[in-house]
Amino acid sequence: MNRAMGFLRHSFHQLLLFSLISFSCVCGTQFSIPRLGALRRTTRTEPKITSSSVSKDFKTFFYSQTLDHFNYRPESYTTFPQRYVVNSKYWSGANTSAPILVFFGEETSLDNDLSDIGFLTDNAPRFKALLVYIEHRFYGKSIPFGSREAALRNASIRGYFTSAQAIADYAAIILHIKKTFFAKNSPVIVIGGSYGGMLAAWFRLKYPHVALGALASSAPILYFDDLAPQVGYYAIVTKDFKETSESCYETIRESWDEIDKVASKSNGLSILSMKFKTCKKLKRTFDLKDYLDSIYSEAAQYDHPPTYPLSIVCGGIDGAPKGTDILGRIFAGVVAYVGNKSCYDMNAYNHPSDETYMGWRWQTCSEMVMPIGHGNNDSMFPPAPFNLNRFIRKCKSLFGVQPQPHWVTTYYGGHDLKLILHRFASNIIFSNGLRDPYSSGGVLENISDSVVAVHTIHGSHCLDILPEKKSDPQWLVKQRKTEVQIIEAWLAKYYTDLLEFRDPA
Ligand SMILES: *[C@@H]1O[C@H](CO)[C@@H](O)[C@H](O)[C@H]1NC(C)=O
Ligand SMILES: *[C@@H]1O[C@H](CO)[C@@H](O)[C@H](O)[C@H]1NC(C)=O
Ligand SMILES: *[C@@H]1O[C@H](CO)[C@@H](O)[C@H](O)[C@H]1NC(C)=O
Ligand SMILES: *[C@@H]1O[C@H](CO)[C@@H](O)[C@H](O)[C@H]1NC(C)=O
Ligand SMILES: *[C@@H]1O[C@H](CO)[C@@H](O)[C@H](O)[C@H]1NC(C)=O
Repeated sequence: MNRAMGFLRHSFHQLLLFSLISFSCVCGTQFSIPRLGALRRTTRTEPKITSSSVSKDFKTFFYSQTLDHFNYRPESYTTFPQRYVVNSKYWSGANTSAPILVFFGEETSLDNDLSDIGFLTDNAPRFKALLVYIEHRFYGKSIPFGSREAALRNASIRGYFTSAQAIADYAAIILHIKKTFFAKNSPVIVIGGSYGGMLAAWFRLKYPHVALGALASSAPILYFDDLAPQVGYYAIVTKDFKETSESCYETIRESWDEIDKVASKSNGLSILSMKFKTCKKLKRTFDLKDYLDSIYSEAAQYDHPPTYPLSIVCGGIDGAPKGTDILGRIFAGVVAYVGNKSCYDMNAYNHPSDETYMGWRWQTCSEMVMPIGHGNNDSMFPPAPFNLNRFIRKCKSLFGVQPQPHWVTTYYGGHDLKLILHRFASNIIFSNGLRDPYSSGGVLENISDSVVAVHTIHGSHCLDILPEKKSDPQWLVKQRKTEVQIIEAWLAKYYTDLLEFRDPA
């Protein structure tokens, strides 16, 4: 299976947001925010092969979750069924205080995570761990009140769709599991990727009494407010392309003007529609540009071994027959990446019915405001700086709420991260691959002995938590090994403390 962690393709999401909401204006300059997420999503339409061992070891439960953890109004006590999955095959039991590894769902259904997140199953035998996977509220089967569409449409329900509620859900379910498995003294390690990785890191800061430690894979906790350069994401996409192939990078850089040039002809949009075999005739060049933007971003973000999709795009562009013009080369890159299709759906990355698209659009319009824009001259993309005022206007027209761009840093922190965390915090691994565009908002520096950054130069988004493969390069094997050793050290320390400090029985 071709996978890429799709939790955080933000640029994509925001792009989506903007393409959706900009139908009434001709100002198509703001590109969508790439997606987050542990897995590449455009391949998700392929039939999913779930091995029988996966399905038989995993048991699904529904927890009766409190709608609102932070108020005591009558409606706060409403409950909804929240899905979680347990695998106890490797657990050596409560008597040994064996650890519990908990995966935090991100902005998608839990269905794919069970087989796609290898870190838990790959390491369960070593840790003799209980494995738990929890679905994020408002995704998959964990929807308060009926259909997702209805829940998201209803302003008084979607107001409960926040990250603070989500991690409070996770705390409630973890405590419930510890109780039902009589596992009071079992240490909990929380694991997440992309947006889920941010939740894991934040969870360790907010709930140190529930989780002993966190593995936050490709978690761009600094891509908020004024913490990271807004152009960081696309600067890395550009660097990845340039490093892979200078000529491919040049072709892409020149292609945007070329698109405009063709579009300015009398039947320009028809010519472009034919050239790119678009499923529907283009109404504006923005849709084509946004589609290409999404392909390049996704290929860079999920440039995973052994297939290296970015090289596939560039292989198509560079490998086009001699004499092929710029747009012909770009199209050859699309075909190489997407496959030979009868037509190409310019909406492939922003389908209004896609749950991640719908849910993440709300999350970015409320609290997860990630200011991602194209730089003016440092990227292979046309300039399109992030415009907060326009973003706010669009969100208001979509949802009638004012986005809170400072809330994430107010609630979870981020400014002066090292100064603040180096004494206060402990037991967090921030893992990154530096070829991942989201690493520009990641923690890349060791903060203390136990709040550490483990990154690889060649890695992409969330690679370390995907399943181990025979073909994995040495640097990836080493990264995972380092992470496991760090977690083992946390656990060893915990068991020593447990002997000394445990509550008397
Ligand atoms: C776990 O410990 C309890 C109480 O000490 C004991 O009754 C039980 O048999 C033990 N279970 C296992 C599987 O060892
Ligand atoms: C929104 O949800 C609330 C709470 O369930 C319900 O009372 C209300 O009727 C819903 N509104 C609409 C427009 O469906
Ligand atoms: C793509 O598919 C069409 C038929 O749908 C075929 O004619 C063409 O040769 C194919 N191109 C490649 C490069 O495989
Ligand atoms: C990019 O733009 C900045 C400011 O507009 C300028 O100082 C810099 O020289 C430019 N860099 C390149 C490579 O053109
Ligand atoms: C941080 O510390 C860990 C554990 O000692 C080490 O493996 C890693 O390379 C360090 N990271 C950086 C960026 O120096």
